[in-house]
Amino acid sequence: MRVGIAGLGRLGKAHARQLARVTQGCRLVSACSPVPAEREWAAQELGLAADRLHADFDAFLAEADVDAVVLVTPTSLHADQVIAALRAGKHVFVEKPLALNVEDCERVQAVAAEHGRQVAMVGFVRRFDPSYAAAQQAVAAGRVGRPFLVRSQTCDRHDPNGFFVQFAPTSGGIFMDCSVHDIDLARWLLATTPGDAGTAPKALRAFASGTIAMHPDLAPIGDVDNGLAIVEFEGGARGVFYASRTLAHGHETSTELIGTGGKLLVGAGAASDRVVYADAQGVRHDALQDFHQRFADAFVHEMQAFVDACRGGAMRGATLGDATEATRIGLAIARSLQSGMPEAV
Ligand code: NAI
Repeated sequence: MRVGIAGLGRLGKAHARQLARVTQGCRLVSACSPVPAEREWAAQELGLAADRLHADFDAFLAEADVDAVVLVTPTSLHADQVIAALRAGKHVFVEKPLALNVEDCERVQAVAAEHGRQVAMVGFVRRFDPSYAAAQQAVAAGRVGRPFLVRSQTCDRHDPNGFFVQFAPTSGGIFMDCSVHDIDLARWLLATTPGDAGTAPKALRAFASGTIAMHPDLAPIGDVDNGLAIVEFEGGARGVFYASRTLAHGHETSTELIGTGGKLLVGAGAASDRVVYADAQGVRHDALQDFHQRFADAFVHEMQAFVDACRGGAMRGATLGDATEATRIGLAIARSLQSGMPEAV
């Protein structure tokens, strides 16, 4: 199977290296980026031929021998690019979130339904993390009873360069960019009941608040660098989400799931391994630096699942419908941040 990748930025380069060197059953043959330095990187680092490196997305899609494309482009481009790729006959993997509004998500779903033989997958990578997968299986096995509360956070180590400030206008803000992962996890885990993968409860209402602790440049675009949200689901389940861009020590993604018969906790703390250092200054461990480090093996499993599905295997991970719901909930949270009032989902 021949694969092309569009977008060679922060995450695109990592996906490209993986497709070229790690993912089994595929060959990375082409790439697309409007940035000359990124195309040069692909030539040097991935050994792609010059005529396989495109500045133009349509020219990239026109390559007839490419079976599947991986889109790691700005979120604001996802919906139109997925639709164009499906119409060009390609299987598509697109990074999360699927789109920044529900109408765009639904347009993608409609076109995907017309191209039912092609895979269309959205990168909710945490579903492929071994610890999250074990947690979901534990819920299915009845180890926490009926789950009713998810407290989940995505907290990045502070980047003094403020990359995310430039990124904010096309990312949809902190909740659509970061908490969308927690939203998807909450729906997935709350759907699971003993013995059944279940159907996710419908989200009814969201309330959000936030603060700018370190990056005043976010104010004009209505974003915050630390955000909190509560989501109410039909049937009584609740989600509580926290996202931060400013942790001093490292990356901390964690999720607590509380059920009628117990609770479980995935990813407490930011320890990067099991080594603890003790000396005259105290006792400590090294911290995870970023999401790449935390989810390295999940990214490998996720891309393998995409390639396996394109080659005829079962589809795994979030569906397009799940991705649409994550956007719908993320938008209600973002509206609440602006209005200061609870918002209907
Ligand atoms: P980035 O800004 O570093 O990279 C974007 C890339 O897209 C750049 O290479 C840029 O040249 C390219 N690009 C821009 N316009 C293009 C076009 N018209 N056609 C083709 N390429 C184009 O952004 P980053 O951080 O790599 O994020 C990309 C996507 O990945 C976003 O949707 C983001 O939400 C998602 N992401 C997902 C993560 C996860 O945990 N699953 C983590 C980080 C990002």
